[in-house]
Amino acid sequence: MQGSQPFKAFKRNGSQIRISVIGTGYVGLVTGVVFAHLGNQVICIDTNKEKIDMLRAGKIPIYEPGLEDLVLRNAEDGRLSFTTDLGRGIRESEIIFIAVGTPPGDDGEPDLSQVTGAAHQIAQHINGYKVVVNKSTVPIGTGNLVYQIINKNKRQNVNFDVVSNPEFLREGSAMHDTLYPDRIVIGASSHKVAMRLLELYALLERPMLITDITSAEIIKYASNAFLASKISFINSIATLCEKVGGDITQVAKGMGYDKRIGEQFLQAGLGFGGSCFGKDVKALVHTMSKLGCNCNMLNSTLDINQFQPNRFVDRVEDVLGGLDGCNIAVLGLAFKPNTDDMRDAKSIDVIGRLLSGGANVSAYDPIAAENCRSIYPQITYCPDLYQACKDTSAILIVTEWDEFRHLDFERLKALVARRIIFDGRNMLDAGRVSCMGFDYYGIGRNPVILEEEAPLLHAAEAA
Ligand code: UDX
Repeated sequence: MQGSQPFKAFKRNGSQIRISVIGTGYVGLVTGVVFAHLGNQVICIDTNKEKIDMLRAGKIPIYEPGLEDLVLRNAEDGRLSFTTDLGRGIRESEIIFIAVGTPPGDDGEPDLSQVTGAAHQIAQHINGYKVVVNKSTVPIGTGNLVYQIINKNKRQNVNFDVVSNPEFLREGSAMHDTLYPDRIVIGASSHKVAMRLLELYALLERPMLITDITSAEIIKYASNAFLASKISFINSIATLCEKVGGDITQVAKGMGYDKRIGEQFLQAGLGFGGSCFGKDVKALVHTMSKLGCNCNMLNSTLDINQFQPNRFVDRVEDVLGGLDGCNIAVLGLAFKPNTDDMRDAKSIDVIGRLLSGGANVSAYDPIAAENCRSIYPQITYCPDLYQACKDTSAILIVTEWDEFRHLDFERLKALVARRIIFDGRNMLDAGRVSCMGFDYYGIGRNPVILEEEAPLLHAAEAA
């Protein structure tokens, strides 16, 4: 079983709402399971038969702590089912969530074909009043587009409403984020339809904002772009720290105590990855520039983020005196800990640069190695971090998995060719690493270098 976390049973008020969720990706599956957990009758729909068969067999296609447990419990209790039969799902539900993918196109504009496809299907099968809810992150104006498609193509003369209800969950803590969200945003064209959603979420007892559809759509993009900008801001200050000898972890702490700034998302490192931040900032730039708005700030957010892995590898190259022929360990591959997701992971950029410089890469990640293999089949994947570090000239921490906090330095000392750690996530205590006999390089921190570099243990490397 995946890391299971006991989530409280919510006191249900007896009224069961019939819900369908189109799309069983991260957002769709978690949304469906949580509504079932709240006592509703939920049908999760996907066109991918293999995925639906897996879910029916109790197997979860994504790694998300706590998800498997809730899927099994709610499926067993008969509140959660899975189907490829979209028509049935639509006909049998009062509220239909659209939670399909909106992958980015080349120019940053999201590909809406799955959303419009779902709207056409709803039009085909709608058989009574329904509330259609956009959960996918969609460009401003999509709520209206979905309304137009259904209205123009509906087979029966029935009423419906479209609502925007953006999702703010994070991978790795998706269950918790959905059960205990900071806020619930409901963008609706009338108070009456907003109340339907309010009723659905009431059990969570969290702050709710009822607004118009356009504002709700903007809230989603603006929130992600703001968080991404916060990360790029701190990474930009990290470069200053490196030049003048400051410590970005202290700077961030000192800033974060100010409640107006807040301590979260001020962790300097290799930058943001994942399926949302980069995609959403690019989509916002696309929309804003089309409308003639100034996008300098958002473009800088993207530029700084792209620059971080390069700066990191430049430093590795400088310290090692070149990459060609060097054995280098990469610890952590996923875009962040507690997920096997490799989308836009910084490890992709780091490994790409190492390979193009002629380095030999051995990598370890507790769960994302298989997903990385399809991107870089040519590197060596190791079953544990110590094997990845064997005979290497440098250890690079790329994802801050918890297990890297407790490195056995004595064991590492005997394995590596040179004792140097590059901490791309500032997760280690620099002083301790140095005491254990390793040189330490973080991001935006003073390097801690032993007076005499540890001797090269392997003659072959020295040559
Ligand atoms: C994000 C948003 O947080 C979430 O609200 C939205 O619904 C989807 O996008 P997610 O992509 O799952 O969630 O991950 P998140 O935890 O936000 O981290 C995103 C990236 O930023 C990761 O690569 C992480 O390593 C990086 N990050 C985060 C930093 O570099 N520094 C920080 O201080 C925080």
